[in-house]
Amino acid sequence: MRLAGKHALITGASQGIGRATALALAREGADIAINHYPDPDGAHRRNAEAVAAEVHALGRRSLVLGADVAQEKPSADMVAQAIREFGALDILVNNAGILRDATLRNLTRQQWDDVLDVNLGSMFNCAKPASSHMRERETGSIVNIASVIGLTGNFGQTNYAAAKAGAIGFTKSLAREMARYGVRVNAVAPGFMDTDMTRTIDPEIKENIRKQIPLGHFGTAEDIAAAILFLVSDDARYITGEVLSVNGGWYM
Ligand code: NAI
Repeated sequence: MRLAGKHALITGASQGIGRATALALAREGADIAINHYPDPDGAHRRNAEAVAAEVHALGRRSLVLGADVAQEKPSADMVAQAIREFGALDILVNNAGILRDATLRNLTRQQWDDVLDVNLGSMFNCAKPASSHMRERETGSIVNIASVIGLTGNFGQTNYAAAKAGAIGFTKSLAREMARYGVRVNAVAPGFMDTDMTRTIDPEIKENIRKQIPLGHFGTAEDIAAAILFLVSDDARYITGEVLSVNGGWYM
């Protein structure tokens, strides 16, 4: 097993790519802290608990940690709790993300702030305390989930593209800061993946996108989880500051 004895924290892990990553890392021996959005009706918590049960079934420990990663204090408290309960944190996957699409003409300041705060602010909020801990231990790996849209831009997504391009710049800068401590920082840039995030896209638009993908189909959450697993494992021990595109050849 490639991650035996390691402890990982994954943000937004109650569904989609986060859930698939939790299971992929657990299968390779890692204990998993599953972050979820603390929604009032508890739906995300129930989903996170179901993921935790799946992690247990794989023989690993799990923690379910509700925290809005757009906020600094709850994020720092969550990282501290994961370190306290696991004894150490080896892996952070900054995965939480949202869309609030509109052309700039119609985009509200609130939609801009929400997308920047969740998709990019969360990376500051979680990576700051986690990297400080990893620096002291002189080991660790951080993966930030960007997007192909951060590389290409997209109609109606100035906020999302800015956040995801920001995630790439953040990744490269933090990789430079942390390399001397043996901590690696990389990004994964998914293309169009079949998850809840893309299920609401108009079927006609989706079909047009699909036709442009050289491999001919959308990817799955598991395809992204496999890339993340590679980057956090020792197989990638000489890789830092890299952006790994997983998009079926849609953008190359
Ligand atoms: P998803 O919508 O299924 O998952 C996003 C997760 O983030 C959810 O569990 C959600 O509850 C959580 N989240 C949102 N706001 C949060 C907050 N403030 N605090 C804590 N958790 C929060 O979508 P998916 O596809 O699994 O997305 C995962 C990541 O991959 C996101 O960063 C997304 O931008 C990125 N991505 C997805 C692509 C796709 O085609 N599905 C393409 C490119 C990037």
